[in-house]
Amino acid sequence: MSEFTEQNGVLHVEQVSLERIAEEVGTPAYVYSAAHIKGQFDRLKGAMEKALPADRQPLLCYACKANSNVAILKLLNNLGGGLEIVSEGELRRGLKADFDANKIVSTGVGKTTSEIKALLSAGVHQINIESLPELHHINDIASEMKIAADVVFRFNPNVSGGGHDKISTGRKEDKFGISEEKIYEGFALAQGMKYVNALGLSMHIGSQVFTVETFEDAFKTLPGVVGELRSRGFTVSRLDIGGGFPIQYQDEDLLDLDAYAQWVNDIIVPLDTEIIMEPGRYLVGNSGVLLSTVEHVKPAEDRTFLVIDTAMNDLMRPSLYDAYHHIEPVTHRDAPKTKYDVVGPICETGDTFSRGRELQETERGRLMAIRSTGAYGFCMSSNYNTRARPPEVLVNGDQYAIIRPRESVDDIIAQDHIPDWLID
Ligand code: LLP
Repeated sequence: MSEFTEQNGVLHVEQVSLERIAEEVGTPAYVYSAAHIKGQFDRLKGAMEKALPADRQPLLCYACKANSNVAILKLLNNLGGGLEIVSEGELRRGLKADFDANKIVSTGVGKTTSEIKALLSAGVHQINIESLPELHHINDIASEMKIAADVVFRFNPNVSGGGHDKISTGRKEDKFGISEEKIYEGFALAQGMKYVNALGLSMHIGSQVFTVETFEDAFKTLPGVVGELRSRGFTVSRLDIGGGFPIQYQDEDLLDLDAYAQWVNDIIVPLDTEIIMEPGRYLVGNSGVLLSTVEHVKPAEDRTFLVIDTAMNDLMRPSLYDAYHHIEPVTHRDAPKTKYDVVGPICETGDTFSRGRELQETERGRLMAIRSTGAYGFCMSSNYNTRARPPEVLVNGDQYAIIRPRESVDDIIAQDHIPDWLID
């Protein structure tokens, strides 16, 4: 990734030194590269432009659960992307980033009444339906509001897709989508509903999907389902083929994007529909580092702990998924290597970023960068242990901006309220 380079012995994001950001903003801090996000968007778009006819280009709806800072959304909006959202909160972020509602698709298994109302009022492009009870729920609200809901049904192909059990979504035991039989039932039901337009299907099989074969496997029944729907007289004019494109955390063999695009051209394009994709991690994951300071080097009986000032509340992925994140020093990058267990200050053993990691010898006060934290990093953070969440910083060439300030502990505590009957 050319956006992360060593310059004069110091790790930089684009042209900005992480040492400078640490001095000016403090640590821990999330730092993102705008150029990297733009590069990833262009790479995905370019692969599609190469393989698919000009009039069949997909709408690339950024799955903003990966990183929902409004500045990141605005950046992707400026690049011409659409948006995939899972909540009213994300809808409001998208609208604040000036997304045209007609480029927003809404997913999720449990949309609430107020969320559905907000989606219909905003006039989103489509609502991806996850169950037949949800179809009835949307119909009730749309009828009441007299606003037609454009919907697609999420197809669960019963295939394992994701890079980890907790991020696989396309197996029958997963809560997502509906079976082939229920798709037919859904289209038939929608036909009798005045305020619901059933327009197509969606599918998202998981995150960190490494091979075209996995997509092939999951989508192999889709053309048959589309054909069957059409033979029953239903219109299928949209296919939302989800996200799941992987990024490099360690030494994974990544999805061949050109081969994937070719597969879309061979299998999806002939179905003659509008095509939607929902990339999340791919666009932002490798754009980010979590910048941290070493608090202590703590020798123990059979190991050395490196206690840093960031923790599982800031970055949950290692604790939650045993995820690997590359860690490197910002300065003193040529120091001899040794092994550390890299841990945060939180009071549980799960607050461990890595065990036995080979790293340059370091000391209190030095800076470390935890890489590939642009996706599912800040947006999954919490105030556990009453820790204020880190700021987010966006680098663009030789400039940077704080796109979200560091939280203050005062603000966190101010939200708690002691009831009168506890005050003596
Ligand atoms: N579309 C739908 C319907 C999704 O549920 C997701 C992700 C995406 C698109 C985007 O998937 P991506 O392109 O980012 O793989 N917190 C986990 C990842 C959870 C993904 C949830 N759904 C992690 O840190 O690995």
